[in-house]
Amino acid sequence: MHPMLNIAVKAARRAGAIINRASQDIGTLTVKSKNFNDFVSEVDIAAERAIIDTLKEVYPDHGFMGEESGSTTHTSDFIWIVDPLDGTTNFLHNFPQYCVSIALQHKGEITQAVIYEPNRNDLYTATKGRGAFLNDKRIRVSKCDKLQDALVGTGFPFRDFKYLDDYLNMFKSMIQKTTGIRRAGSAALDLAYVASGALDGFWEIGLSPWDIAAGGLLIQEAGGIVTDLSGQSGWLTSGNILVSSPKIHDDMQALIASHLPPTLKT
Ligand code: IPD
Ligand code: CA
Ligand code: CA
Repeated sequence: MHPMLNIAVKAARRAGAIINRASQDIGTLTVKSKNFNDFVSEVDIAAERAIIDTLKEVYPDHGFMGEESGSTTHTSDFIWIVDPLDGTTNFLHNFPQYCVSIALQHKGEITQAVIYEPNRNDLYTATKGRGAFLNDKRIRVSKCDKLQDALVGTGFPFRDFKYLDDYLNMFKSMIQKTTGIRRAGSAALDLAYVASGALDGFWEIGLSPWDIAAGGLLIQEAGGIVTDLSGQSGWLTSGNILVSSPKIHDDMQALIASHLPPTLKT
């Protein structure tokens, strides 16, 4: 395993242990609302601290972009992009679908990725150019070649409703053209599932870099396609993402394109 990935795995497992311990007694946690429908618990903060401390110990000069602690003002070529607990709402409801997501960006390119699902002790990893793995076993995106056979994941707009109607039109078409849709509540884990072939595709509007940086690399390394909603490459900055196995990407993109408002087109 690449040494940088190795440290990221160590950090993710430390965060996972904090999350698992806290999941035994969720009722006692202090939870704050950051914004409408946007919660942070002491677990998110403790897990992020554990991750950043672990990484900083080895890479004191690297930059960090963490969901809870923000971005460091850095001059380093290396930036760690961290979501300590993706799926906080699920976690706080004891709905067992959440994960830790850590990515390393080097000169603008994502080069290392870890997504750790502490419930199942499932570890997804990728290094650019070296493939994607689930618990050390190589993974590939699904072989699905028809949209009508595809099981796709998505995330609903639930904080900002400006694109709700456009999204619902995409959702309606997707229901009619696929075998089914799942909304499990952790975008990073949804992306890991596309990488491992459990989902054939996924799309969501308005995500943040820490939701998608690691999952995007996992999918690319597993042979899948990662774009924005217009089929272009700016997904990490826009947060509007469409991923799938190669043979259904054009059809998913065409379907979404027919409902894209001008402000989401690139
Ligand atoms: C959220 C989850 C959710 C997605 C949201 C994200 P959080 O992350 O990934 O599935 O729909 O847009 O913000 O807040 O639980 O880390
Ligand atoms: Ca998140
Ligand atoms: Ca989070």
